[in-house]
Amino acid sequence: MADLVNNGQKRSAWSSKFGFLMAAVGSAVGLGNIWRFPYIAGQYGGAIFLIIYIIVVAVLGFSMLTLELVIGRNRNANVLDAFEMGKKKKITPIGWLCIFTPFLIVSYYNVIGGWIVKYLVGYIGGGGFVNDTGDYSAVFGNFISDPVWSSVFTVIFIALCAVVLIFGVQKGIEKVSKVLMPALFFILVFVAIVSLTMDGALEGLKYLFVPNFESMEEYGILNILNAAMGQAFFSLSVGMGIAVTYGSYLKKDQNIPKSAAIICGFDTLVAVFAGLAIIPAVFSAGIAPTEGTGLVFVALPAVFKTLGGFGIVIAVLFFVLILFAAWTSAISLLEVLIAAVEEKTKLGRKGSTALVVGVVFVTSIIVSLSQGDVIPTDLLTLFDNITNKILLPVTGILMCIFLAAKIGMQNAKDELLLNCKSRKWADVWGFLIKFVTPILIAFIFVMGILSWAGVAI
Ligand code: PHE
Repeated sequence: MADLVNNGQKRSAWSSKFGFLMAAVGSAVGLGNIWRFPYIAGQYGGAIFLIIYIIVVAVLGFSMLTLELVIGRNRNANVLDAFEMGKKKKITPIGWLCIFTPFLIVSYYNVIGGWIVKYLVGYIGGGGFVNDTGDYSAVFGNFISDPVWSSVFTVIFIALCAVVLIFGVQKGIEKVSKVLMPALFFILVFVAIVSLTMDGALEGLKYLFVPNFESMEEYGILNILNAAMGQAFFSLSVGMGIAVTYGSYLKKDQNIPKSAAIICGFDTLVAVFAGLAIIPAVFSAGIAPTEGTGLVFVALPAVFKTLGGFGIVIAVLFFVLILFAAWTSAISLLEVLIAAVEEKTKLGRKGSTALVVGVVFVTSIIVSLSQGDVIPTDLLTLFDNITNKILLPVTGILMCIFLAAKIGMQNAKDELLLNCKSRKWADVWGFLIKFVTPILIAFIFVMGILSWAGVAI
């Protein structure tokens, strides 16, 4: 059902405020909250990191998310049209960045999604695939380097996304998010309670929440700030046009600042709960918390094993949880691409979905094969680094400039204030977007590049 119109072209719209919020939260809450946040928080100083992270989300994350939603609703278009710059010649470099970045990210996100499906199916089948050998790292390594099975599960994950996307904004994304997000939250709270009641959980709590001044000395406050900013960007999915696309389906009655605040708050809450669910359990099993994939696919199976039969139930719940998180995030990445194809071509919703899914299918398989011997370079890590360290911050800065130069601060503030009373906040936000946010993002960018290049900071 199309409820918005742009240039005579009908466009989809969210059917309810709650539906939009759940879809936006679904995009934000993903692997970044569940495997990345707990580890990074512990590594960079526990409570100290948490406080810095919350400030960064409140300042940088909130202002960027608001900016993208404002641009999206104001332009009422896909990213290519939303970021058009010339009047006669339709030039849209930021638009193309907002196509390229989600394309790269989704090409590897699907692969991790496939691993999650594999572990979920394996645990539903009793978990024998990991428990028989006890060498969790070898099980994981063998699986991801197996060209056939890892590709099969990647395809299953892509198919799950396609099934939702083909139904469009209201009947697909919105409907599914309204069920998956509340379910995710309940499962998360349950798993956190189980984790906190395990013997030795206290150590994990200390790792997460006691200020660790040693790591502050070890890493230095600048590095901690840099880590917090990188995490906030990735976790809120800003800097790649997702919120522009989701914002373009917003009607004028949605309060944008309030929505952005709810999305930021919920995303952070889920990250903290994920910390509570994962870290105490990992400590209780006597395992050191490791990064990323190692945590979910290697450390946690060892924890599930210590719980016996109950461990299988918890494992199934956990992988359902992380599947929901990854699924709604991948859907948002694909929607940016589908919306652009749908509005720039005559393929229609189904044809555009088929085209995008078809192309992403090929690139995802290539990334999947790069985890084994078939393709020697690890494309997953490469794409992750290119997007997080270069493309997201660069696009973020360009979006701030675009807003000020092309839409104009006054128009932007008027858009922001529709159905929202706080004039003062609009001024604070305008100041952030013009002066604070781009400078802070430039800082992440430079620091990230330096540390990537191996320069000690
Ligand atoms: N925000 C998602 C997460 O926390 C990751 C993501 C990044 C999703 C980019 C979409 C786009 O995992």
